[in-house]
Parts: sequence; C-alpha cells; structure tokens
Amino acid sequence: MLNFGLVLGALLAVYQFPVGAPESCPAGIPGLPGVPGFPGHDGRDGVKGEKGDPGRTVKLNKDAVKGQKGDSGFPGHSGKRGIPGDPGPPGPPGPPGGRGDSSDSKPQSAFCVSRETVAHPNPNTPVLFNRVITNVNDHFNVTEGKFVCHIPGTYYFVYHATSLGKTLCVALMVNGEKKATFCDHNYSTGTNYQVSSGGFAVHLQPNNKVWIETSAQNGMYAAENKGNSVFSGFLIYAH
Ligand SMILES: *[C@@H]1O[C@H](CO)[C@@H](O)[C@H](O)[C@H]1NC(C)=O
Ligand SMILES: *[C@@H]1O[C@H](CO)[C@@H](O)[C@H](O)[C@H]1NC(C)=O
Repeated sequence: MLNFGLVLGALLAVYQFPVGAPESCPAGIPGLPGVPGFPGHDGRDGVKGEKGDPGRTVKLNKDAVKGQKGDSGFPGHSGKRGIPGDPGPPGPPGPPGGRGDSSDSKPQSAFCVSRETVAHPNPNTPVLFNRVITNVNDHFNVTEGKFVCHIPGTYYFVYHATSLGKTLCVALMVNGEKKATFCDHNYSTGTNYQVSSGGFAVHLQPNNKVWIETSAQNGMYAAENKGNSVFSGFLIYAH
C-alpha cells in the first residue's frame, strides 16, 4: 500500500505547476484531493501462449547397470471354471490281462492211473494201479486205488482194460455200490489181447469215493509194450 501522505504530496505538487494553465485566470484556492478509488477487479485472462518445443528423447546411459531380477509376485486367484470340452476319441485297447490264478478261481480235479502187471487183480476189491500218469492235486489215492472227491460236482470216469485168456468183468463203484458193470468175454484162442472199456458220469459230494473192481472174471492183464489198463476221471463242472 502506498503511503497516503506521499500520494497527496505528489498530487499537490502537480497541481501547483499546472501545464498549459491560462495565465489570465487568477489563482484560486485549490480544492482538497479526492479520496483514492477502490482497487480494480482482476484483469482478463491473457492470450494463450505459443506451443512449446517438442520434448527430447533421453538416451539410456550405457554405463547403467541392469538391476537384478525381482522376486516372483504372489500367485493370482484361480480363474472361473471353464465350460467342459468335447469328449475325446476312444483310447487304444489295453494290454491283455494277466493269467488268473486257476488253482484258486477254477476248481481242478483229474487223474489217470495205469496198471502195468501181468497179475490179475484181486476180485471184489479195488483194482490197484501202480503208475500215475496224471493226478491233479492228488485226488486219486494210489495206495487204496480210490478217487476221493474234494470238489462237489459232476465227474466222468472211464477205464480201458486189456485182458488176455480170461473173461473180464469190471464194475464202476461209488462208495461200495456198483453203478455200472461191463464184461469182456474170453473169445481168444491163444495170445490175442482184448481191450474193453466202460464209463459213467456221476455227481459226487466231498469224500465220496470212486474206484473199479472186478468180479471173479478178473482177466485184466498188462504186459509191457502190449497193453495196459488205465483208469481215468475228471471234473466236468463243479456245483
Ligand atoms: C490213502 O489211503 C490210505 C489208506 O486209507 C490212507 O492211509 C492215506 O492217508 C490216504 N492218502 C491220502 C493222501 O489221503
Ligand atoms: C479162454 O478161451 C480160450 C480159448 O477158447 C480157452 O482155451 C481158455 O481156457 C479160456 N480161459 C478161461 C479162463 O476161461
């Protein structure tokens, strides 16, 4: 703020030496100076300035050292589940399965024994066989000449007997009971070997026993390389 006294003094000084004032007028008493006006309003905005120079591209300092790789950020949230895709094509066929444990899963029972002696068997008692060809799980008791059932089911038994010089009658026995009898009569005139056979299917329970025996017509005979007598049996199906 200007000093009011100085402004008033300056105005008085100007007034005492008016420029171009008529000399003929007599000098009056000057009036008191007016009170200073109020400060004016702010001026209007100036004109928009000229456009500035384009910015310079700052060249990277060759000597700047590249910073170390920062730590990995936290994993983001899982996205929403997408819509299911189309079903794929069928895969190639798999490898063949392993061989099952047949001893456990599939019951087995089969035997075949051979009598190899020229001696006629004792009549009315189990015929004994001195050579085992097959005896799965030892269900045929060679000592007593009997098959002993371990697996309930239907079995088939068959014998093929060589005979010489004497009629042979063979009975198929189950627990001491004759189930079937076959006879091969003595028609030989010398050393003609004959072979007779017989068989049957029977349902057995565990510990049932099956064997063959002859009557007094016990012409069963065997000679090496001329003929044997065999007794066979096997499980058809278990049930
Ligand atoms: C075969 O039978 C005999 C005479 O009955 C018996 O002593 C033996 O234990 C039996 N063998 C088997 C394997 O059962
Ligand atoms: C078997 O037949 C022959 C010939 O007919 C006879 O010589 C023989 O005595 C007969 N054997 C028996 C045990 O009957």
